[in-house]
Amino acid sequence: MLNFGQFRRVTVLTGAGISAESGVPTFRGEDGLWRQYRPEELATPEAFARDPRLVWEWYDWRRRLIGACRPNRAHHTLADMEAGLPDFTLITQNVDGLHHMAGSRRVLELHGNIWRLRCTREGTTHEDRRTPLPDLPPHCADCGALLRPDVVWFGESLPSEILEAAFAAAAACDVMLVVGTSAVVQPAASLPLIARQRGAAIVEVNPQATPLSDFADLVLRQPAAQALPQLWERWQHP
Ligand code: APR
Repeated sequence: MLNFGQFRRVTVLTGAGISAESGVPTFRGEDGLWRQYRPEELATPEAFARDPRLVWEWYDWRRRLIGACRPNRAHHTLADMEAGLPDFTLITQNVDGLHHMAGSRRVLELHGNIWRLRCTREGTTHEDRRTPLPDLPPHCADCGALLRPDVVWFGESLPSEILEAAFAAAAACDVMLVVGTSAVVQPAASLPLIARQRGAAIVEVNPQATPLSDFADLVLRQPAAQALPQLWERWQHP
């Protein structure tokens, strides 16, 4: 068992699995979104250029689904850890906004946020949590151009300042918790390997094995809403 009291700089990377117990479907599990839909038809710039209404109907459906979901104990535990630890960075691949809703203040959203809309002409963004959206596809109130979800699609680059902060947090930490991700999508999947190369301990929280499992110093083969509260309890009272 790792002596968590020794760790000073903590970085956490989360994926869709941390929101599974809130009712948000993951992407690659049995009932995963990519089992039912083809990502190249819905989550690429080409798909949006080809049929913006279809892409928006899918995102509007996901927004309505996610809008009914609430953070679970795993999200709340990470918010508690941020408040209780001197040097804590949360990086997420999730676009559902549940970390913010649970009280996490500083969240590096690598893949954007499904509640933000971005003007395809001006690049301006604003939050709009209405579900369903009044008209699909939505247009910019200022210039009339199409709005898109402010998320990163396959083939697009991640927001550079957020990605740089994430790489820096991976390189600087002495422990990284990797929670609820299949660890197959780049560049997020490189973050734990960077941390490990720099000597950090790696803790994986996932009911299933992933390509990262063999590199982890500790694997908690449990759902995150069970594993994280227990881990934080032991961390505070070794
Ligand atoms: N607790 C912890 N982990 C869980 C739970 C749970 N309750 N339920 C499922 N998992 C794990 C699964 O075993 C799987 O390894 O969560 C992982 C989810 O993997 P994916 O569905 O691939 O989601 P993710 O890793 O976040 O995908 C990364 O791919 O499609 C893109 O942009 C999308 O951000 C996403 C990225």
